[in-house]
Amino acid sequence: MTDAECVAFLQWALPRLDMRWAGFRKVRRQVCRRIGRRLRELGLPDTTAYRQILARNADEWRFLDSACRITISRFYRDRGVFDALGAIVIPALARAAHARGAHALACLSLGCASGEEPYSVKLLWELGCAGEGDGLALRVTGIDAHPVMLERARRGCFHPGSLKDLPESWRSRAFERADDEWCLRPEFRRGVAFVEGDVRAALPAGPFDLVLCRNLVFTYFADSLQRRILAQLHAHMHAGAALVVGIHESLAGDSTGFRPWDGARCTYRRL
Ligand SMILES: C[S@@+](CC[C@H](N)C(=O)[O-])C[C@H]1O[C@@H](n2cnc3c(N)ncnc32)[C@H](O)[C@@H]1O
Repeated sequence: MTDAECVAFLQWALPRLDMRWAGFRKVRRQVCRRIGRRLRELGLPDTTAYRQILARNADEWRFLDSACRITISRFYRDRGVFDALGAIVIPALARAAHARGAHALACLSLGCASGEEPYSVKLLWELGCAGEGDGLALRVTGIDAHPVMLERARRGCFHPGSLKDLPESWRSRAFERADDEWCLRPEFRRGVAFVEGDVRAALPAGPFDLVLCRNLVFTYFADSLQRRILAQLHAHMHAGAALVVGIHESLAGDSTGFRPWDGARCTYRRL
């Protein structure tokens, strides 16, 4: 399958999956490879024949949906965002939690991949926010639709490349080397839980103080679906809670119920 054929196919199929082509433009190779493999498995000559299969088989749409999951992640991705979380946002959330007499700060990571993002919040809490969380526990929930990614997340072992943005001292404090991987020590996994689920169907029960929704909803999903999930996130968050999006994402035209967080990139305060 040529790139042009794959692009034409994705531009036709993605809106039918409630996704947007613009989000896939740069990462399409991964998806095109999977679709090419699928055509070979089904013995089909081209995407025209594949469209005919899709026209009469709802299960094939489910396969295509899962083939469109982009799973790239790493620890402390977009350092500046995490630095601001540690310096500005988490201290404010901790003060608010203390003020309402809470015992824990609840964090949600949507599309958590192999756990790099939820574990980064845990590392930040333990190693980058000294004193701020005194008397408070941190509970982090990661949700992802991909069972293999979640299995890796629960195992807690990672290739060195995925740790390259972490402060060096944190890596030696929080991980131990096991062959060619780095495995999180048990104390840095405590309070971090993973659930398998489709964020389009349901979100874990809140209310949450901190929600990371990066490089999924606001990149790949259609505008109407973005708006629906944003409204659900709003309903799952405390007033004053923080919503963090990816560095190439914004709530743009529809930030109803949220306001940019002063001094913290990519972060919004839930009104
Ligand atoms: C590009 S990764 C982003 C990981 C992390 N949030 C980050 O920014 O580094 C997107 C993740 O979302 C997951 N995903 C895709 N569609 C999903 C859905 N409908 N519900 C839940 N997770 C989904 C994928 O399996 C993948 O692990």
